[in-house]
Amino acid sequence: MTDFTNKTVAIVGGGSGIGKAVAMAAARDGAKVILSSRSRDKLETSARDVPGAEIAPVDMTDAASVHAWQAALPELDHLVISASSAAHGRFADLPDDALRGMFDAKFFGPYATARAALPKLREGGSITFFSGVLSRRPGLNCSGLGAVNGAVECLTYALALELGPRLRVNCISPGMIRSDAYGGMPEAAREEMYAATGESLPVGRVGTVEEAAEAALFVMSNTYTTGLVLDVDGGHMIRQYATR
Ligand SMILES: NC(=O)c1ccc[n+]([C@@H]2O[C@H](COP(=O)([O-])OP(=O)(O)OC[C@H]3O[C@@H](n4cnc5c(N)ncnc54)[C@H](OP(=O)(O)O)[C@@H]3O)[C@@H](O)[C@H]2O)c1
Repeated sequence: MTDFTNKTVAIVGGGSGIGKAVAMAAARDGAKVILSSRSRDKLETSARDVPGAEIAPVDMTDAASVHAWQAALPELDHLVISASSAAHGRFADLPDDALRGMFDAKFFGPYATARAALPKLREGGSITFFSGVLSRRPGLNCSGLGAVNGAVECLTYALALELGPRLRVNCISPGMIRSDAYGGMPEAAREEMYAATGESLPVGRVGTVEEAAEAALFVMSNTYTTGLVLDVDGGHMIRQYATR
């Protein structure tokens, strides 16, 4: 367990998946939690499982929304941004709009949101971004997703230098995690995907949102940790890929 007593943590992406699990774990360890994402309904549902949580909706891709969100924020100790969207497709076929939409939601949105939150972050606080293992081991049809994850990781390194020593900046890079992100898939196809990926990993299974969340709590609370991209991936980096 980590100690977040008297700490305020804002989680953009806290309405589902890993972000919600970060919120639950931080509240368990004493934090006051603010949950953000676009859907007020999702945030209200999520808040029922996070003792004392407040909600503050934001669309990271909308400058006016980010401005209003920032103005309403209290002082923060930690900002976590797990919110994103993903677009898969062959290099030759992926529509430009899908690629740009993903960069808006996963890079420019977190960039603008973290920058807006800066004045609200107390000295000694931290920012935690989320990338994904495709940055360094892209699979087939994942060129855009790999590239956006790489951009988030480079931003992490650069901001750790630029914002230190006032703030620490880290990044969690998950491998495949059972989460709401795959909620749109038919159940049978989703379970098949989890099973096939799990078989290829040294741990023999895909991860849980709780395992990813504990990594976020580690980088938030460990005060000698900055500029770190932490893989929580069941050994994805050393797994065997099929050739085709
Ligand atoms: N799950 C995995 O297997 C996996 C693997 C590699 C990397 N990751 C990364 O880990 C992070 C968390 O993933 P997850 O599985 O928890 O995803 P998730 O359950 O799909 O959550 C993403 C959240 O982002 C919010 N969001 C999307 N666009 C937004 C915007 N423009 N402004 C504000 N909020 C926005 C969504 O809520 P609203 O609809 O309410 O806005 C949603 O709650 C992501 O960065 C993801 O790329 C996940």
